[in-house]
Amino acid sequence: MTNDVPSARPFVVAIDGPAAAGKGTLAERLAAALRLPYLDTGLLYRAIGKLMDERGFDLDDPVLAGQFAEALDPEDLKRGDLRGREAGELASRVAVHPAVRAALVDFQRAFASRAPGAVLDGRDIGTVICPDADVKIFVTASPEVRARRRTDELLAKGRDVVYETILAETRERDERDSGRAVAPLKPAADAILLDTSDLDRDAAFARALAIVEARRG
Ligand code: DC
Repeated sequence: MTNDVPSARPFVVAIDGPAAAGKGTLAERLAAALRLPYLDTGLLYRAIGKLMDERGFDLDDPVLAGQFAEALDPEDLKRGDLRGREAGELASRVAVHPAVRAALVDFQRAFASRAPGAVLDGRDIGTVICPDADVKIFVTASPEVRARRRTDELLAKGRDVVYETILAETRERDERDSGRAVAPLKPAADAILLDTSDLDRDAAFARALAIVEARRG
């Protein structure tokens, strides 16, 4: 059996969900299994936040943030310092600005529209960027489970973190991402919910792959 995607029409998989739900790992594994390119759209917002912050600009300035988004170079996504918690916070702040989001739409849609298709993960892929995606999965887990996983990951890396702090940060990020006026985090009406609270990575991946295969079939 092969996982190659046979059709000429791009096959698009949209993976959305809150921070630390495991959607990045899941999306990357799905992309590899389906042999499709993968775009972690969080990197776009992370790069903008990081670039503004290191140059001393105000991330809450909607016009400035929009200009940074317009000028974003795909090479900026290759920076090595975009994955951490700090960059995630900066990203969440710039992501509230409509001008930032508008400036990133074409890049994401162009990525998705090339044959043979793509897997994209983010917050608004199924709702705004690719509303016609072939498969939409909303990956979630309780804030407590997400905070626990993140705390364990950071402790394993030797970082000095406290679960309660990470839980508070997780809730704060959820609130900002879900409460913003433009493209808030929410499942598309036709998204399939995948709650990973009681699933390990392999089990979550197996479920997601089964969802995709069912749609392709
Ligand atoms: O997926 P992530 O943790 O890398 O995302 C970081 C932040 O970027 C997230 O808190 C909100 C924002 N984001 C967004 O608003 N829309 C996306 N499609 C991806 C990320």
